[in-house]
Amino acid sequence: MLYSGTIRCLMNVLGIETSCDETGVAVFSTERGLLAHALHSQIDLHAVYGGVVPEIASRDHLRRLLPLVQRVLAESGIERPDALAYTAGPGLVGALMVGGGMAAGLSIAWGCPLVPVHHMEGHLLAPMLEDEPPEYPFIALLVSGGHTMLISVRGLGQYELLGTTRDDAVGEAFDKTAKLLGLTYPGGPAIAALAEEGDENAYHFPRPMLNRPGLDFSFSGLKTAVMIAVRAAEAAGELAARRADLAASFQRAAIDTLVGRALKAAKREQLDRIVVAGGVGANELLRQQIAERFDGEVHYPRPAFCTDNGAMIAVAGALRLTDASLANEIRAEARWPLDTLGMPGVA
Ligand code: KG4
Ligand code: ZN
Repeated sequence: MLYSGTIRCLMNVLGIETSCDETGVAVFSTERGLLAHALHSQIDLHAVYGGVVPEIASRDHLRRLLPLVQRVLAESGIERPDALAYTAGPGLVGALMVGGGMAAGLSIAWGCPLVPVHHMEGHLLAPMLEDEPPEYPFIALLVSGGHTMLISVRGLGQYELLGTTRDDAVGEAFDKTAKLLGLTYPGGPAIAALAEEGDENAYHFPRPMLNRPGLDFSFSGLKTAVMIAVRAAEAAGELAARRADLAASFQRAAIDTLVGRALKAAKREQLDRIVVAGGVGANELLRQQIAERFDGEVHYPRPAFCTDNGAMIAVAGALRLTDASLANEIRAEARWPLDTLGMPGVA
């Protein structure tokens, strides 16, 4: 069981996520698991701009948050939670301040403690919401719009960063490639859908860093190679006919890079368990390739909990209840390295 020995009392934790363009709220019970969750995606609001506009994001969180809180409380059948967890960073500061401010206000009104949660730790712990949660230790491949990280996880808060991206995050590479191909934001699902109609061997794009030592990533070379191929197809008047091949070949190169690096990390750390989380973790090819090439256990959150959501913040808050305080300090960190977190209750 996930909670034996970790949490001594039974608690309902309300989680609030507002770090970017999704307003997520959930209630997690340390006794009964996830009781309710709700999400409002702002994708439509930002799609016209081809990316997230921070000011629009903050305003929409403000509009959506309280109704979502009321909804999940009603669905959970509880009047008030015993603790409140909110995403304190990393993320868009204005957006974080909406969630943190609301959480602090509610904690004063309800007299319950407040747990600041690291967004990427939320992603990392999202598989704990599933029926067969991973046991420690494991390798975490955290792949989102803002991060690409390989982490050796020895326990809650015991994180050693093994590798990260030297330039773009992998989700960002999906988003930028999608833009080049005239697809809508967010690019990941759009590229994956278009790739189904294409030939992944049509172009041989670089698998950046795969043959280099270490465990870092780099996606700018791949991005440039795709851009050159797109321009060439455009100049030849063939872009419409080649879009699916370009999407499929890009996706294959990006996923081969992630899988190659994750397997290398597992081998180096002698761990036979990998957790994949973050938005790009929803990618089918990634899941299929890891299943095919890795002998050990692989854990994912369900696809809906790969992208941003309140449930991962609620469960991370539940596991970090010893970090809770009644203080009214609201944290909102644009940058916050995951490996500085430490174990719960240890400052
Ligand atoms: O974790 P997330 O929701 O937000 C951040 O914390 O960044 O990740 C969003 C990223 C976007 O870049 C999106 O294009 C990517 O995840 N993504 C995918 C897929 N679904 C979402 N990338 C590849 N394949 C997918 N199916
Ligand atoms: Zn995220």
